[in-house]
Amino acid sequence: MHPTAIQLEVQIGRLRLANPILVASGTFGYAREMAELVDLSRLGGILPKTITREARSGNRPPRTVETTAGMLNSIGLDNDGIEAFIERHLPYLAGLGTAVIVSIAGKSYGEFVDMAARLDGLPGIAALGLNISCPNVSGGVDFGTACQQCERVVAGVREACGLPILAKLTPNVTDIVSVARAAEAGGADAVALINTCLGMAIHWRRRRPLLGNVMGGLSGPAIKPIALAAVYRVARQVRIPVVGIGGIANVDDVMEFLVAGATAVEVGTANFYNPTVTMQILDALPQALAELGARCVADVVGTLKTDF
Ligand SMILES: Cc1cc2nc3c(=O)[nH]c(=O)nc-3n(C[C@H](O)[C@H](O)[C@H](O)COP(=O)(O)O)c2cc1C
Repeated sequence: MHPTAIQLEVQIGRLRLANPILVASGTFGYAREMAELVDLSRLGGILPKTITREARSGNRPPRTVETTAGMLNSIGLDNDGIEAFIERHLPYLAGLGTAVIVSIAGKSYGEFVDMAARLDGLPGIAALGLNISCPNVSGGVDFGTACQQCERVVAGVREACGLPILAKLTPNVTDIVSVARAAEAGGADAVALINTCLGMAIHWRRRRPLLGNVMGGLSGPAIKPIALAAVYRVARQVRIPVVGIGGIANVDDVMEFLVAGATAVEVGTANFYNPTVTMQILDALPQALAELGARCVADVVGTLKTDF
């Protein structure tokens, strides 16, 4: 099939996207900062920086450190809160001509549900992303590591709002499959994985951590193999779609995630060192799909062959 004839649309539960290339929360700001470099309307979707109910000033600096093939961050969900987001950022995002998936994080069940109810019905929101996986926020219940809590919070959000729900999972658990199943049982339309891997960096001469918060989340190419394994395992054990995240930096990475079982992907850290990476991926994707004889993205999803 000629590459230009390939269907790039994907279905993520109740959410239909023009293509499977999204940008990951926290790595794309609120999109304004990227508009000069990226044709935002070409993206399958945008996940703006996670918002919380109240404003948060985030963690003590330094908040980012470069590591081998990746980076560590301990931003700590620095944001101006949900009302400022609705007032200052949502109107702009809503006019971009791409799906906006608003990422929310609550410190409690009630906060998640309240935020979902507040966002329900506002124009310009295609779906909700539940950030139940941030490694940098202490004091809250860990909805991404305890299955019962995960199912309850997803179910509560589902009850409170009519938007499709993407539950974002952490790799910092013994069994990510059981948490994914819990999200599915709670009514998530999709699971997105992975968030960052807990890590740290040390200056041994000073005997000091390099991050102000001591530990942070590792991202970038260094975590791609971990993310691929997580996607592969989860995709075979849940019926809802999986959105793959972790170290994606080019079209080959995207194809690996699709073949492993992801229906769509989010590009994160690569946006920092190559801001036009998503455009390059979108330019190359039809040809890569054509190489596998696909007529649409779904034709390659989960087609990994393991019989040697
Ligand atoms: C600086 C930075 C900030 C991030 N902030 C958020 C956030 O606010 N919400 C969230 O769900 N994930 C956040 N993430 C995690 C990314 O969305 C993504 O899951 C992770 O970085 C793995 O993908 P990557 O290797 O492509 O970056 C952040 C990552 C980085 C590097």
